[in-house]
Amino acid sequence: MSENWTFVCATAELLPGELKTAFDEVTDAPIVVFNYDGDFYALEDRCSHEDFELSMGTFDPREGSIECLLHGARFDVRDGHAMCAPAHLPVAKFPVKVEHGGIWTRDDRG
Ligand code: FES
Repeated sequence: MSENWTFVCATAELLPGELKTAFDEVTDAPIVVFNYDGDFYALEDRCSHEDFELSMGTFDPREGSIECLLHGARFDVRDGHAMCAPAHLPVAKFPVKVEHGGIWTRDDRG
């Protein structure tokens, strides 16, 4: 688990409907951060189906989902749950904070 927060970008650099990627500075976990309707959410940037980068897929800012490029599984960006096959397991969700004009996240898994 990482106690350190990882800087993602300035808040002005992640507009509604956009996503950014980062790596946790302690665990090196790949993270994708979404701006969904003005709120920020972070998931592990790894599809639970076959270990593929979710950030390569399509973020639907109306539904609040990310569709994996490889086989089309969709995940809710707010909590990481799988919305359709072929994925059944959720993607890890990470905390996000906004501080000093920036967006921060961390891998909080134990
Ligand atoms: S790797 Fe994402 S749906 Fe198969």
